[in-house]
Order: sequence, then structure tokens, then C-alpha cells
Amino acid sequence: MKPWLWLPPQLAHDLSPLALQLYSLINRGPTPAWNSFAWNKIVFENRLGLAGGVDKNGDLLNVWSHIGCGFVEIGTVTPDYQKPNPGKIMDRSTADEALWNKMGFPSLGASEVFYNVKNFKQQSSLPVFVNIGKNRVTENDKAHLDYVALLQRFYSVADAFVVNISSPNTFGLRELAQPANLNKFLKPLLKARTELNEEQAEKPILLKLSPDLESDDIKRIIDTSLENKLDGFVLTNTTLSRDGLKKPFPPEGGVSGKPLQAASKKALQIVSAHLNSEKSKKLIISVGGVMTADDVFERIEMGADLVEIYTALIFKGPNFFREVAGQFNGK
Ligand SMILES: Cc1cc2nc3c(=O)[nH]c(=O)nc-3n(C[C@H](O)[C@H](O)[C@H](O)COP(=O)(O)O)c2cc1C
Repeated sequence: MKPWLWLPPQLAHDLSPLALQLYSLINRGPTPAWNSFAWNKIVFENRLGLAGGVDKNGDLLNVWSHIGCGFVEIGTVTPDYQKPNPGKIMDRSTADEALWNKMGFPSLGASEVFYNVKNFKQQSSLPVFVNIGKNRVTENDKAHLDYVALLQRFYSVADAFVVNISSPNTFGLRELAQPANLNKFLKPLLKARTELNEEQAEKPILLKLSPDLESDDIKRIIDTSLENKLDGFVLTNTTLSRDGLKKPFPPEGGVSGKPLQAASKKALQIVSAHLNSEKSKKLIISVGGVMTADDVFERIEMGADLVEIYTALIFKGPNFFREVAGQFNGK
């Protein structure tokens, strides 16, 4: 029984922090170990984690650590506080097993979120990836400054970073991944990391890609990322495509869940093949339309090092992490 699916999506979303706190109090337990591995000195007890956007401010890190996640990606965090986009910003379609959103990076801002991560990391070894994005008022030619500021702010507490230039809900954001812009955008980030590394241990930086890119664009982005010594990729963000949907979501905004599955898998195939001999050194996180335990295992077989979910948490519930662990150990 999933009573939250009877509620309007926005109300269910607003009640979810409280419900998750209660759920995790009752169902708390140690992180299940399955297919554990270590990469770049980060230890993952298992391969299934929480996708960006669920816990934008790192308010619920304790919840995730109690319900079986192998790691958590918080954010997208922006440098300064910002409100969500106006109007209706989310919807769901049970018939399509899909969510629609145009949230636009609502964030408490870096200072607040920093303390949530810092406090959590003082008492937990669960890996925390910080997903970073620009404020909507920041012009694209200055966007790198927002990302550098976020890198500097979180460097002492994050296990790794995810650079989000693939959300469809911040005007012009995806242009930063265009061939003409990407190198210019990435260079200052990697320079900032080199400077931070002089005093602190190196933190991996991953790039999150859009599922709406052509294969050649994906390959170009990978090449530019490798030249800039990025450490991996998160594949993928939500899609602008409405192909095959039963529910007529608005044309703007991103769709996630089952309808995204094919595009997310295709991106994983293209990136794995294109990385070739570099693949073993890089981290690939697959996300998008992972709705069952078998989907999780399939992504790992296809070459993903880690897998994340957002929409499955809504349609399958918070027990999904332990269900996957149980099925892996029963295999
Ligand atoms: C309501 C909602 C909000 C999201 N917010 C973010 C975000 O802030 N940053 C981000 O990188 N991805 C965000 N995403 C995208 C997810 O991280 C993920 O890439 C996408 O939903 C595909 O995974 P899924 O099919 O398991 O949901 C959001 C997705 C949803 C549904």
C-alpha cells in the first residue's frame, strides 16, 4: 500500500520529509552490504544510491543512512538561496510510472547546506556527493564563478562533486555543455580544484549529462571532460521528450522514470564504449528509469559502477533500497 500516491503530487512531496523521518525511525538499520567496492578512497557498502534533487538541502541525510542507501547525492545546491520556479512545478503519471518537474533548483543556498553536510559527515561514513548548480540570475558567461564558489565551499566535507549543467529547468543551462562552451566552462573548475588540492585531498568531479543529446555530442563532451581530467559521469538527467506518454505533461520541464529508461541506457552504452581503456579509472553512475531490482543489476552489468533512483522512490517507496539488497543477496 502506498497511500502517498492518493495525494496530489505537491502535497505528497511537502509531507514526505516528515513521513520519511518517521519511516526511518521505525525501519532503521545498518547499511546493507552487497557488491561493495572502493573507488578513489571512497568506500561504497553497496551500489544503489539516491539521485540528485530528492534531498536538495541535505536535510534528510540521517534518513538515507538508515534506510539502506549505499551513497547519497544531495542538491542541486546553488551559491545563494533561491525559490522554485513559479506556478505548478511537479506532477506524476501512475500509468506511465513517470514524474514531471520544472522546479528550477530551489535551494537554501551553500552556507546552510554546508552545515547539514558537515554535521552529518562528523558522525557517518556514508559517501555524500554534492550536486552543484548556478543561481538562475547568473549569466552563462559567469556561470563558472558559481561552480567554483560551490567547489570551494564544500571541498572539505563532500566526498565528490556532480556538476549539473543538464537540468532543463534553468534557462540556458544546457548550453554550457555545447562544444563551443564546455572547455571554457570546465577549465576554471579544474584549476580551482588543483589549487584546493594543495591543502586538501583530491575530490572527484563528475559531470551529469542530459539524455537529450545526440551520440556525437555525448562523445565530444566525454573527450572534453577527459582533457580536463574529470573523474566520471552521471547518466542522465530528466528528458524534454514526451514520446510514448499516456499523460499529456506540459511541454516545458523534465520527465523522469520509466519513459526515460531507454535514453538513459543508451547514454550508458555510448559512454562506456567511448571511454574504452579509460573506463576502469572513471566512475559511471547510471540514473533514469531504474524501477526494479533487476533494472539496478542490469545497469551494473552494462558497465555502471553505481546506480541511483528518484522516481522509483515515489512509486515503490522507501523500502526499495533494502528490497534490492535482499534480491542481490538471494541471487
Ligand atoms: C522532482 C525532481 C527534481 C529533480 N531535481 C534535480 C536536481 O535538483 N538536480 C539534478 O541533478 N537532478 C534532479 N532531478 C533528476 C534526477 O536526479 C534524475 O536524474 C532523474 O529523475 C532520472 O532518474 P529517475 O528516473 O530515477 O527519476 C530531479 C528529478 C525529479 C523527478
